[in-house]
Amino acid sequence: MATDSDRDIVRATEPTTELERLIINDPYRGWLASEGVEIIDEFAFEDLHTVELGPWARKGGKGSVINIPYPMLINDSQLIEISPGGKSEPEHHLYEEVVYVLSGRGATSVWVEDGPKQTFEWTGGSMFTIPLNAWYQNFNASGDEPARYLAVTTAPVALRTYNDPEFIFNNNFIFKGRYGQEETFFSGSGKLFSGRVWQASFLPNVPDMPLYTWEGRGAGGINVMFDMAGNQMKGHVSEFPVGTYKKGHQHGPGAHLLILSGDAGYSLTWTKEDMSDVVKSDWKVGSMVIVPSAGCYHQHFNTGSRRARYLAIGYGSGGEAPGLYAPFAGSGGADVSQKDGGMQVEYEDENPIVLDMFEEECIKHGAMPDMRRYFPARSEYKVTLSN
Ligand SMILES: [Fe+2]
Repeated sequence: MATDSDRDIVRATEPTTELERLIINDPYRGWLASEGVEIIDEFAFEDLHTVELGPWARKGGKGSVINIPYPMLINDSQLIEISPGGKSEPEHHLYEEVVYVLSGRGATSVWVEDGPKQTFEWTGGSMFTIPLNAWYQNFNASGDEPARYLAVTTAPVALRTYNDPEFIFNNNFIFKGRYGQEETFFSGSGKLFSGRVWQASFLPNVPDMPLYTWEGRGAGGINVMFDMAGNQMKGHVSEFPVGTYKKGHQHGPGAHLLILSGDAGYSLTWTKEDMSDVVKSDWKVGSMVIVPSAGCYHQHFNTGSRRARYLAIGYGSGGEAPGLYAPFAGSGGADVSQKDGGMQVEYEDENPIVLDMFEEECIKHGAMPDMRRYFPARSEYKVTLSN
């Protein structure tokens, strides 16, 4: 199992003079410093509901920025808590933002310079996007309870590209092709574009939304991909049955994986072929694992007694969605076998320790592992549960 130094390798963050120089001169880090916001450099969180946050008045209460220290990473996330009865200051910016509401209830108003405000209400489990550079303001509808959300953004690449916060936060360009101010824009309705791609800008209840068959990632999984307001940043929801796990794969860095349902599971991340640097991150509802570096293998496992569902938000994970420039996103081939030139490890090609660890973990949690059908050569294994 991995040591602390292995974790550094997986993060691609070994402290080097070059890395320190990049961070010191990083325009994105400079903006965070000017905000005075706390930065959390970590890629696995047991429970986002309970992470301690620092003050971030502009956001309506508290907040911290989760930014694994990988200088080339395109996206970050902002973990925000709006105080009871609180609201954020109106803002707009030239970076994309996709929001998942962890708890509480509230509303968001969205508008552009020459248009009316559109306001929609959300609660825990809702997901929405702020159209690029549209004005917005968030409100907590409760006078007693805080409202907490996670916003995955492309702020790092925007700040690093233009190196001038004034351009990012005080630019009046209107992206009419992304946000036409249609009455239904935030109505909660949507449409199936093709295959498993769902087009919507507001999803009222992601943990319970319908999903579609996805044979490619294995073991009876179901899935839906999101195309939101013409974003280059995409997302998807996947769910897998009891006693199963997904196929390991690689893609570009920065996919933020939130656990929405299920009662036990874990993710593995590694970079070395022999998996000697593997990191196991246990999860439950509210956990998050970030794919920390380019080329990092990762694989997700359900060891609980219920189906497990997760939401992944990142740059370009919905390869079928219109408008996506997949090569830049670095996600092409993520569900194509390595044997066919892709980045997915087929079950029959994976390291045997993957199945061994999974079956041990299932038994530990009282769940019946159900993966032997994909490994006929190892079918001698017999499982008995004591309860
Ligand atoms: Fe992935």
